[in-house]
Amino acid sequence: MSGGYETARAGNGGWPGDRPSPTAAAPRAVSPGAGGGDERTLAPLARRRLPVVGRRELGAYVVLSVADPGGPAPDPGQFAMLAAAERWGGGADERPFLPRACSVARRHGDGTLDFLLEDVGPGTERLAELDAGDDVWLLGPLGRGFAAPRAERRAILAGGGVGIAPLAIWQEVLGPGALALLGFRDAAHAEGAALLREPRIATDDGSAGHRGLVTELLAAELGGPPAEVYACGPPPMLEAVRALCAEHDVPAQLALESGMACGFGACFGCVVPTRSGYVRLCVDGPVLDATALERVEHPGAPA
Ligand SMILES: Cc1cc2nc3c(=O)[nH]c(=O)nc-3n(C[C@H](O)[C@H](O)[C@H](O)COP(=O)(O)OP(=O)(O)OC[C@H]3O[C@@H](n4cnc5c(N)ncnc54)[C@H](O)[C@@H]3O)c2cc1C
Ligand code: FES
Repeated sequence: MSGGYETARAGNGGWPGDRPSPTAAAPRAVSPGAGGGDERTLAPLARRRLPVVGRRELGAYVVLSVADPGGPAPDPGQFAMLAAAERWGGGADERPFLPRACSVARRHGDGTLDFLLEDVGPGTERLAELDAGDDVWLLGPLGRGFAAPRAERRAILAGGGVGIAPLAIWQEVLGPGALALLGFRDAAHAEGAALLREPRIATDDGSAGHRGLVTELLAAELGGPPAEVYACGPPPMLEAVRALCAEHDVPAQLALESGMACGFGACFGCVVPTRSGYVRLCVDGPVLDATALERVEHPGAPA
């Protein structure tokens, strides 16, 4: 049965929403997080049972398409909590038990949402095997996405591995001038770069593009005209991006990851340290301004 609703707690930690979205008939809220206090799209007050309408393999990744015609348009950088409607849990150690956080990689005109999945454990394995005819439970869009670019700065997107997902939807909004620099471990993973327009690629083993780290491509760009960097990827990569941008005095927004149990501010499982104390990444992030961080820490995993 598709299109059903199940009562759940309100999304996004309860920031007061009061202004209509310019992009969708969805509630908006203003939060004091590190990304500059921009408005964001709030999730409907329940998780939604939605049909999977497509699955395609993209090298080492899977793109899962979910029909959500009635859902609000997510802001680039927002995510959803996903769980398969059937056979979720009951595997080894009863995992996956909790839903899994997943960035929205694209929203099509008919409301279909694309998610890029990398099978790293029981949750992503189950999600990645879903296909048309299956259903998912989706709560979202959640969190705070990328803040609007500063004037007179060119956008550089720096992605690592499955972290390229939120950069794909962001590049679509930013337009043709946004340069994408993407790093992967090998050519099979680099096939994921097809989600972005005219990307420059680096691979660890040199099997596609530049042999080396994506931060080497980024370093070469930061000496040019004034830029603003948007990055998502594994913590060591984000820490390198943070340090590089600080060194060059370039503003950066970092989409971080943390083990998330609820996704809407209730469990405090996703807290990360910032210069002004701990924040819940699911409501104050996942995108944080780089200057808010002393450094990018490595998070834990959900149950
Ligand atoms: C905001 C956000 C957006 C995300 N977007 C995507 C996405 O677009 N595509 C995608 O494939 N994955 C994404 N993830 C990561 C995904 O949620 C985790 O990889 C997933 O929860 C792992 O579950 P699992 O059961 O498959 O593996 P597990 O067995 O739970 O974990 C496998 C390995 O990944 C580590 N890990 C698990 N969860 C996290 C996490 N949240 N942060 C860092 N390390 C973790 C574990 O320590 C372990 O080493 C996102 C996470 C967050 C917080
Ligand atoms: S995941 Fe529960 S508070 Fe963030």
